[in-house]
Amino acid sequence: MSNIEQTLSIIKPDAVERNLENEIKEIFKNNGFSIVKEKKIQIEKSEAEIFYKVHETKPFFNELCAYLSSGPIVVMVLEKDNAVLRNRELMGATNPKDAEEGTIRKKYGISIDKNSVHGSDSVDNAKIEINFFFKD
Ligand code: CMP
Repeated sequence: MSNIEQTLSIIKPDAVERNLENEIKEIFKNNGFSIVKEKKIQIEKSEAEIFYKVHETKPFFNELCAYLSSGPIVVMVLEKDNAVLRNRELMGATNPKDAEEGTIRKKYGISIDKNSVHGSDSVDNAKIEINFFFKD
């Protein structure tokens, strides 16, 4: 049975800065994802703090929000069967050092902060994150 889902993907400042936007989009498309919405934006630190609210008690929260708002990002809604899990598999582990061969973070990630892409970690969070960036 098919289970078409949507998930939020962000190409982070380190990847946009290195002109990897099109290469990363091709990887998503080649892996069967449809990019149903997309925009390139730069957000304020205060907006990043709302987006990453689940991490507000973590020691890296301040740095994380400063980083996401430090330059242009590409936010996308990706659609595919089991999109949330499939996107997490394709991105690889949060820390590029632990990411498997063939994953986006293994290929492009620089560090745990500059790990090139973000993806929603659950179907519920995907809805919240999509709504955050693409309020209709
Ligand atoms: P992301 O998937 O965007 O979700 C939260 C981000 O916090 C994560 O990717 C990392 O880039 C960043 N981060 C920084 N330090 C840590 C850490 N120690 N553990 C998990 N995530 C971290």
